[in-house]
Amino acid sequence: MKIIIPKLIKEIKVALLEWSEKLSVKVEEIDSQHKKLIKIINNLNDAWKNDFKFEEFKNVFLDLIDYTEYHFRSEEKYMEKYNYPKLEIHRKQHRAFVDRLMKLKEKCSYNKKEAYTDLLSFLSNWIVVHIMNSDREYVPYISEASKEKMEA
Ligand SMILES: [Fe+2]
Ligand SMILES: [Fe+2]
Repeated sequence: MKIIIPKLIKEIKVALLEWSEKLSVKVEEIDSQHKKLIKIINNLNDAWKNDFKFEEFKNVFLDLIDYTEYHFRSEEKYMEKYNYPKLEIHRKQHRAFVDRLMKLKEKCSYNKKEAYTDLLSFLSNWIVVHIMNSDREYVPYISEASKEKMEA
């Protein structure tokens, strides 16, 4: 078992995530926040490659939690400002994501490696799926509203 487990864990390692135009929400500020989130997730992946340096991993993980909360607040401010009709559903998704991060943070204190692999597999799915589906849904409301405001 002790020989097999590290192999399985290594297989969970996520591929490098990349931001592309298809993830654009047409608001520069939010796009650059998404790029930064993706960068932090890739940094977490790098921490794994560096022979699992837990301190490094923990620091990047704390950065991720901080930056995620900051990003969600910015996004929700835009949605509030332009009366996005699905704001509450979206807010719940953000909260569920932060709750999951907090649970994984707790898990770090008693099962580092499992918390780490859970985190990477969860993040690699969540971020892209959330941007592609939920975030891009607010594009017509927020980007057009921004444009109108600029033209006024
Ligand atoms: Fe979002
Ligand atoms: Fe987002």
